[in-house]
Amino acid sequence: MTAAEFKRRRKQLMRMMGKNAIAIIPAAPERIRNRDVHYTYRPDSDFFYITGFSEPESVAVLIPGRKAAEYILFCRQHDPKREQWEGRRAGQEGAVRDFGADDSFPFSDLDEILPRMLEQCERIFYAMGCDSRLDRQMSEWIGKVRANSRSGLQGPLEFVALDHYLHDMRLYKSRSEIALMRRAAKLSAQAHINLMKKCCPGMLEYQLQAQFEYETRVKKATGQAYPAIVGGGNNGCILHYIENRDELRDGDLVLIDAGCEIDCYASDISRTWPVNGKFSEPQRQLYGLVLKAQLAAIAKVKPGNKWHLPHQTAIRVITRGLVELGLLKGQATALIKKKAYEKFYMHKTGHWLGMDVHDVGDYKVDGEWRILEPGMVLTVEPGLYIPRGTKGVHKRWQGIGIRIEDDVLVTKDGHDVLSKDVPKTPHEIEALMNK
Ligand code: GLY
Ligand code: MN
Ligand code: MN
Repeated sequence: MTAAEFKRRRKQLMRMMGKNAIAIIPAAPERIRNRDVHYTYRPDSDFFYITGFSEPESVAVLIPGRKAAEYILFCRQHDPKREQWEGRRAGQEGAVRDFGADDSFPFSDLDEILPRMLEQCERIFYAMGCDSRLDRQMSEWIGKVRANSRSGLQGPLEFVALDHYLHDMRLYKSRSEIALMRRAAKLSAQAHINLMKKCCPGMLEYQLQAQFEYETRVKKATGQAYPAIVGGGNNGCILHYIENRDELRDGDLVLIDAGCEIDCYASDISRTWPVNGKFSEPQRQLYGLVLKAQLAAIAKVKPGNKWHLPHQTAIRVITRGLVELGLLKGQATALIKKKAYEKFYMHKTGHWLGMDVHDVGDYKVDGEWRILEPGMVLTVEPGLYIPRGTKGVHKRWQGIGIRIEDDVLVTKDGHDVLSKDVPKTPHEIEALMNK
């Protein structure tokens, strides 16, 4: 991502804010894992979207129209001793020189400087409730400004939910964002293909996870978008199964939901395949149904269609199929109305995808489902889950969990499946696994 793109985003946000306004956007805090060990640091998506800066202990401030500086970045000061132990810091010079800040101050000066900036503004754009420490500081600063108001300064009158503006911007992906997401999806797709080739009975679930992480990182993914889900057999029925500790067994399916991240942009792909390379008949029948639902749902991704049309479509296909297989009894229309499918398909067919795997953006606007528009990216991921011991279900269907998930870009004339490189028909999967 170029410096020019980050600048364009700040300008766009400032245009929306108008004059006499201030936006305050904090970086994510570092988090301790155990004693002196921290979790790998990942910048907050909103903060990174606006700044391209990835150091903790930073706050970005935007004040449109301010003569001295419109974009001020508070960040850590240079400190040769600390930097020798903990790593390099951009410092105030770097914030201005390399990250486009008009001015920069030490993070430790926030308490002193920010109240003075607030005094000049009528509206504060801030995402309340995301950072409890900054929330507390904010109320202290406002208190200070109010106390000073007797000396003639008015201070801010109104809080505005910054996330609303920022998240609407993030929903529409630019050309360079799409390029990054396409690359992330391609790397994840190639890793899924290689997992299919390597998978065999006796492997441990986490060995497939390790292989996925290795393959994507070696090809220059910057990380994983979320912890991989690798569920063999019955474990595939747990939607967010991340223990990944069990052995993969001959005759079971394995469900893998894994996606790498590049420069804070996610991919999110699920595939399900037979551990031994050949679908059993019940597995093939259920898999065929999920695939049919997924293809029908993807076909509904195009500009002008409403957000929930792919989900409605998937539900219709799945309910009819479950009736045909004898897993649901009754009339499809009535079963859909009473959500009978939820016994086997209990999640939605997708979500926005972007910097966050479950990305930001409203799904409804003024109470109506959002209309799909070019530049939006979503997942399409129907599934069926029939854990062992499910009452009223024949044994042959039990212990089967299936999800097929692709990343889909809405284009001018329809859609583009960013993750299309990974095979998903039973025939293609078996051919690949038995090569
Ligand atoms: N990987 C989480 C999801 O598919 O939503
Ligand atoms: Mn997903
Ligand atoms: Mn997923």
